[in-house]
Amino acid sequence: MSFPPYRLLDRDHIAKTQAKFERLERLYHVGQQKAWDGKQVLADLLKKHGGIRIPDAKRIAIGEVFSVILWGELAAWSIACDLALMLEEPGAKMAATSQAHDEARHFYVMRDYLLELGGKIPPLDGYTATVLNDLLDTRRLSDKLLGMQLIVETTALTLFRAVAQARVEPVLSDLMPYYERDEARHVGLGVLYLPTVLKGADRLETARLRLFQLKLITMIGWGTHLKQRYFKDLGIDHAEAMRYGNRMVQEAFEGMRSSEGGQPRAVLASSAMMQRINEKAMEVFFPSQEAPQPAWQRAVVGFCGQLARVGDVALRMAA
Ligand SMILES: [Fe+2]
Ligand SMILES: [Fe+2]
Repeated sequence: MSFPPYRLLDRDHIAKTQAKFERLERLYHVGQQKAWDGKQVLADLLKKHGGIRIPDAKRIAIGEVFSVILWGELAAWSIACDLALMLEEPGAKMAATSQAHDEARHFYVMRDYLLELGGKIPPLDGYTATVLNDLLDTRRLSDKLLGMQLIVETTALTLFRAVAQARVEPVLSDLMPYYERDEARHVGLGVLYLPTVLKGADRLETARLRLFQLKLITMIGWGTHLKQRYFKDLGIDHAEAMRYGNRMVQEAFEGMRSSEGGQPRAVLASSAMMQRINEKAMEVFFPSQEAPQPAWQRAVVGFCGQLARVGDVALRMAA
């Protein structure tokens, strides 16, 4: 788009696009109204709960799981800035700008929390590093929107909800609803804008996008296997969390359908067959920690855990 884009001041253009992008612009205004003071919120929660007092095993587990979140927030901040640059319509640009503001807060609050938690915060695992680097490196708007807004944001939302519900640690669990509210708006940007971006995707592009999503989902699945024992230490049932995450992706997809009146075929979750495969895979590979598992399933899950560790080492060496 050549600069300045005078059409943005054209009354006919504004009238034509306003209804379509009004809800995106609203995300910006809601973000402004609901912006919270991260320094104050964290200080108040630390005071309310008398600091962070937990056994060492839990401290290690929080460090393992939340190093993923910390670097995920930093990546989300940069990707939101990319989106704010790439998106042309003011409503969408405003929503992405508001997201960048939120992600900056999410990053510094999580950094301050982890410093307060103490102990050693481990480096990022190979799977998450691959996902985040793919999303940071791509110059494709469709990849960034699909990968970050629909897949990574819903995964983060699922984890935040699980941590809040499991009362993992009082300060962290009370912090999570602040993050959840913001992340829900970020998913909203994807839901509202993706149909416009994906409308022109031909068969080849649709296939490429589906493969790209499959790679991201597979990496996130292996990353979850890798952290399995830490979820257990935190009292989080990953089977329940994954089912919730799956429902969220479905809801996001339904939202996309109603926002544009069509079904963007490039979204992997749109395929009924993919849904069935997904549900079956979750039953086998991510069984509920509450229910007893048959010996064969314990062996499969144990083997996946070992394989996840091998893959992690390989990915880190290849980086
Ligand atoms: Fe965030
Ligand atoms: Fe976000």
